[in-house]
Amino acid sequence: MYKVREISAEEAHSVRHPVLRKGKPFDSAIFPEDSLKDTFHVGVVIDDVVAGTVTFIKNSNDNFKEKAQYQLRGMAVSEEYQRKGIGEVMVKKAETLMLERGGKFIWLNAREVAVLFYEKMGYEKYGKSFLVPGIGKHFVMIKKML
Ligand SMILES: CC(C)(COP(=O)(O)OP(=O)(O)OC[C@H]1O[C@@H](n2cnc3c(N)ncnc32)[C@H](O)[C@@H]1OP(=O)(O)O)[C@@H](O)C(=O)NCCC(=O)NCCS
Repeated sequence: MYKVREISAEEAHSVRHPVLRKGKPFDSAIFPEDSLKDTFHVGVVIDDVVAGTVTFIKNSNDNFKEKAQYQLRGMAVSEEYQRKGIGEVMVKKAETLMLERGGKFIWLNAREVAVLFYEKMGYEKYGKSFLVPGIGKHFVMIKKML
């Protein structure tokens, strides 16, 4: 049985580091916004182990005029649990929590390999791809919540 719930920044780091910053220093998996009061982290927990995590940060992107913007960041599912529906469950839970906090618009920088996943979750690509040094090609993706 799994649980989907808000988790601490430290719990988020435990999955974010091996999945998104493999081989890099642990601190590279810590975002400055992780501990801000408007930031929240959602995880799927299986037998007390965090199997996946996503972080929502109250952060406006100047490309968009919408109010109440959140940035989706640090989306990571442990390798052995990928493609089992955990990412979907986490994104849906985080979207619900964001709506409860008054958020209306989500943007993110998506790795190219994850674009299809986000499209399945209702996100759309915005603009041209860009390179993040050391990580690779990314697309800005957005979702407006009604
Ligand atoms: C991308 C990631 C977060 C998706 O989480 P997940 O738990 O594996 O995805 P889910 O099982 O919930 O998939 C939901 C849907 O997206 C699809 N999907 C998931 N990953 C996909 C991929 N890489 N390519 C194409 N489709 C994908 C699934 O097939 C599923 O669709 P379906 O319901 O029609 O079968 C996860 O695979 C991961 O952590 N990858 C490595 C890190 C990464 O790239 N993070 C994103 C950084 S922007």
